[in-house]
Amino acid sequence: MTINLPTDRKAVLAADEHLIQSFADLNSLKDQDSLTVITEAEGYYVKESDGNQLIDGIGGLWCVNVGHKRKEIIDAISEQLNTLDYYSTFYNFTHPTAAKLAAKVAELAPGHLNHVYFANSGSVANDSAIRMLHHYNNRLGRPNKKKVLSRIGAYHGSTHLSMAMTTPAYSKGWDSASELVHHIKCPHFWKEGGDMTEAEFLDSLITDLKVNIHDIGAENIAAFIAEPIMGAGGVITAPDGYHVRMAEVCAANDIKYISDEVVTAFGRLGHFFASKDVFGITPDIITTAKGLTSGYQPLSATIISDEIHEVISRPGETFLHGMTYSGHPAAAAAGLANIALMEQQRIPEQVRVTGKLFEHSLKELASLELVGEVRGSHFMIGIEFIKDKANKTPFAEQDMVGMKVAQAAQKRGLIARPLGNCLILSPPLILDEKIIASIYDILRESIIEVSSSI
Ligand SMILES: Cc1ncc(COP(=O)(O)O)c(C=O)c1O
Repeated sequence: MTINLPTDRKAVLAADEHLIQSFADLNSLKDQDSLTVITEAEGYYVKESDGNQLIDGIGGLWCVNVGHKRKEIIDAISEQLNTLDYYSTFYNFTHPTAAKLAAKVAELAPGHLNHVYFANSGSVANDSAIRMLHHYNNRLGRPNKKKVLSRIGAYHGSTHLSMAMTTPAYSKGWDSASELVHHIKCPHFWKEGGDMTEAEFLDSLITDLKVNIHDIGAENIAAFIAEPIMGAGGVITAPDGYHVRMAEVCAANDIKYISDEVVTAFGRLGHFFASKDVFGITPDIITTAKGLTSGYQPLSATIISDEIHEVISRPGETFLHGMTYSGHPAAAAAGLANIALMEQQRIPEQVRVTGKLFEHSLKELASLELVGEVRGSHFMIGIEFIKDKANKTPFAEQDMVGMKVAQAAQKRGLIARPLGNCLILSPPLILDEKIIASIYDILRESIIEVSSSI
């Protein structure tokens, strides 16, 4: 059956009046001029409704890791739908595709992380992690051990619970399950380090964790959740050794460590998972999504340790957690084909070269007057703009310099993501030297243009 889609901009916008965008200023969208209508995509390019081609500098939304329109994944999804379109993994049902993907994810995940619960978004992967840990503690007769430590600057999703774990700035004017969560310090040295050396700053973060555990009581804390590199909080990297030391304190206090690898897994930092291979920790739970299918299907995974699984699968109680689309065959097929493609084409290994080139090249932008800091790693980069570089005076929130630079970049053919006075780049992992050079040139020209107008 052919679905007759609206293709010209005017027809799309007429239909779009019924669509609610995510994280958008709904009032300003009533004037539809600012909407970008994307109709096609291939490789690292997307096309607008008028045929204009743009470099996808944000990989859809940190997710199209292998690039757009990969036939291998599209064919695998189609073949799967022709064989088994849907069946659930409720009760005693399973199917080959979800089972095989669970085994593959367990093989790729570090150490004792061998049991996988699938859902359809990073938010639900994080909700699932907390629900499972609450049940785990109930099973162990510790009904008070329920609170979660998260961090200022974190982004863990947009459901009621995952938003509570996200930095409070994201829920201004909204409610969340905030009574369950306590936010500890942001590990951003450039912004929060003051007069300290980086080593002193790291010590202060560890002390902050210990003080919070002491005040709240380890017997009341189920988990600490952390992204290896904070993403939507502005691409914030912690000082070297931070995760290892935080994990040691958590383990000493019987607090489970959840590593939110919704963005950092599946090649973005040069490995299938970053927790162990990049940051040297084996968490109790890893959550992931996005690059798991490179965005071709909505799929997330909550990967739990043998020990947690052993407790929640003891006789006596049922696993009362379930989503209709958990392990959906088409999504699982996309995951398997995506991982196979990454393995065959050695994409994570390639990223260790091209991602480093991207990082080093964008870090050169730090010499521009408007740029305060370029941070991040490999294909996960944040650029922070600053009013007065010498005194580190920030722009006001309403200055929206990120948006101004993003608009200047889009005019030149590059989509970048504005975030307050920052700009975020998280492109597909298949960029070559030439396109990396083009992205650098576009960003440089755009920043210079905005500098001269503010
Ligand atoms: C680190 C992290 N965790 C969780 C999420 C939520 O994922 P989703 O948007 O699929 O719910 C995101 C989304 O960007 C994320 O960056």
